[in-house]
Amino acid sequence: MIKCLKERFKSNYQADPVVIAAAPGRVEVIGNHTDYNQGPVIGAAIDRGVLVALRRVDESVFRFSSAGSSVFEISDSSQRQRGEASWLNYPLGVYNALIQRGLKPSGGFEMSVESDVPSGAGLSSSAALELATGKAFSEAYGLAIGSDELAAVGREAENEFVGVPCGILDQGVSACGKAGHLVHIDCRELKFSTIPLGDDFSIWIFNTHKKHSLVESMYSQRHDECRQAVEQLKSTGLDIEYLADVTTEEFESNKEILDTVISKRAEHVIYEIDRVKRVQALLAEGKPIGVGKLLSESHASSRDLFENSVEELDYLVRILESMPDVVGARLTGGGFGGAAMALAGEAFTETYAESVASAYRGYFGESPQVIRCRIADGARVLELASL
Ligand code: GLA
Repeated sequence: MIKCLKERFKSNYQADPVVIAAAPGRVEVIGNHTDYNQGPVIGAAIDRGVLVALRRVDESVFRFSSAGSSVFEISDSSQRQRGEASWLNYPLGVYNALIQRGLKPSGGFEMSVESDVPSGAGLSSSAALELATGKAFSEAYGLAIGSDELAAVGREAENEFVGVPCGILDQGVSACGKAGHLVHIDCRELKFSTIPLGDDFSIWIFNTHKKHSLVESMYSQRHDECRQAVEQLKSTGLDIEYLADVTTEEFESNKEILDTVISKRAEHVIYEIDRVKRVQALLAEGKPIGVGKLLSESHASSRDLFENSVEELDYLVRILESMPDVVGARLTGGGFGGAAMALAGEAFTETYAESVASAYRGYFGESPQVIRCRIADGARVLELASL
């Protein structure tokens, strides 16, 4: 991938890049829609990601290229892009967020991007792009910026420039991932830590290629419903700001005042936060097998309460749970299509994965994309020419 990137950079810009940075996609292990409710979440960085090659230029022009597209050239880096150029909003959003943090925007830059994260699979190709660009910019502009802050920069780009009201999960995991470890994020305190998982487990992705046509507005709608749940619960006298402030007991004693749909959304988030804490405790005790039941409960809650699953994901999870050495399975990421993940031991092999795919094909008439992921490191610089 890096060779392709360098060749394309050279052929597009007749020069070599000064820096090449990489950032991984991510799997949400547990903590579904907990991040923007200020709860905890656990994810893993995967061995698929985005590479960014960059060099600064003197003229005030910004050029972008990616596999299979011609070079996009713009002169105003503060302008949001549309249509085919809308992917530029990710690097532009990061550039603008870094300007707030000390990047001196003299001249312009040339950038090339290469990715092997399937888009639309819920594996956060966009966060990988944000973090790889963030790393490349920090090197090229000499900014001393740590992983935690780079995650915040990526989220700011996504929230403010791209316009998606996501939490910190995707960018946090892509920034702070570590091979063989899960990433735990305390989304209220913005504290990132890693939990060893060991080498006995793999994460398998089954990408349905299905995506609800209204996926972005459905995500925002869930976001709003969680805010409404807070407002309605406040009217009972609870002193809260986010759903993460509500214990399961408080929810049970006050839930009758909530509208039916709002109550389902709140129940999902409040119990999901509890499940993340239990997963964290089990992992700390060295009992990863116990996690499986909580992953299954998380999926059932997405399906029945948060209503962000789809038939294809329910089917995959059901079959995966019956397979040998599958610890647990659930939808991963925002939902409304995308991918299911399974945490599995070594006895769950390619042959079993193929039998899951073939059952799915028999039922839905199309094959899911199957990806076995190793847990990988977070955003990093791969090559740096002397500046
Ligand atoms: C998407 C968002 C994340 C998170 C998940 C759901 O991946 O980008 O911030 O909210 O959905 O948990």
